Amino acid sequence: MHFQWYPGHMTKAKRQMQEDIKLIDVVIELVDARVPLSSKNPDIDELAKNKSRIILLNKYDLASQKYTEEWKKWFESKGYFVALVNSKSGSGVKAVHEVIQKACKEKIERDRKRGILNRPIRAMIVGIPNVGKSTFINSFAGKACAKTGNKPGVTKGKQWIKLNKNVELLDTPGILWPKFEDQTVGLRLAFIGSIKEEILNITELSMEFIKFMHSKYSGMLEKKYEIEKSEDSLETLQRIADRRGCKLKGNELDVNKAAGIILDDYRNGRIGRITLEFPEITETVLEDTKA
Ligand code: G4P
Repeated sequence: MHFQWYPGHMTKAKRQMQEDIKLIDVVIELVDARVPLSSKNPDIDELAKNKSRIILLNKYDLASQKYTEEWKKWFESKGYFVALVNSKSGSGVKAVHEVIQKACKEKIERDRKRGILNRPIRAMIVGIPNVGKSTFINSFAGKACAKTGNKPGVTKGKQWIKLNKNVELLDTPGILWPKFEDQTVGLRLAFIGSIKEEILNITELSMEFIKFMHSKYSGMLEKKYEIEKSEDSLETLQRIADRRGCKLKGNELDVNKAAGIILDDYRNGRIGRITLEFPEITETVLEDTKA
């Protein structure tokens, strides 16, 4: 399966972000806890070098608890400050304030030594489309937030949200893109629903998903859909179609409809909390690509 991306405004967005990043102290990158590396932008390390870095493992309500903890440790071992959040319910969102203070401790100390007291920390939220940036900002900033307006000379033309006396947030989320060239990344992002459906073959995609489930979460689909196990992904799909009464005219099985149901169930957490990539595996892959 080949994935096409939407590279349209990338260069412009990247240039804008290069400018914006100069103004901020800490970059908060949202990733999807189910695919923490595939949903991570490859350019951000370069864009945000010399800045404090926070990774928010968002949508952790949809990811395996065990693997999310492992990912947290993995990112921490790489020097990131990490928090688990469910932006939709608000769970874990408040704790991000503390993480920001921790991530900016050195800056605060530096300021203090220079006699600069109480200069707010400036933060920016970045992430690939659909990772939950807007939901997070709404939850994090809440309704009570005040727009501080322009600050001549420093933040020309930019809107800042004053979260409290310690933190200001750059209003617009930075939209970045995932790794374009990697088809495995494409497949994982398609599973979570971050690639437009029109360009995908749903039946093929769901069969890939079934294959993945059979290898990593054996028995889970069978339990969810109350079907007999089959090693064959098409046969599994047919059994699910049959179980769910997905039929075309003439009583033929409508596997395409069943495929849509499976993917929708997965994306909404109805099959269970399923992480699609794992720290130890990805690390090896990363090392391999570097070599
Ligand atoms: P973006 O700005 O990064 O593009 O993403 P946005 O906030 O629009 O969120 C994309 C989708 O992800 C939304 O769902 C949103 O509700 C959902 N979402 C964000 N954070 C979380 C989370 O922590 N957990 C879960 N389960 N979902 C989250 P949608 O289908 O577009 O809308 P709706 O379901 O809210 O109606």
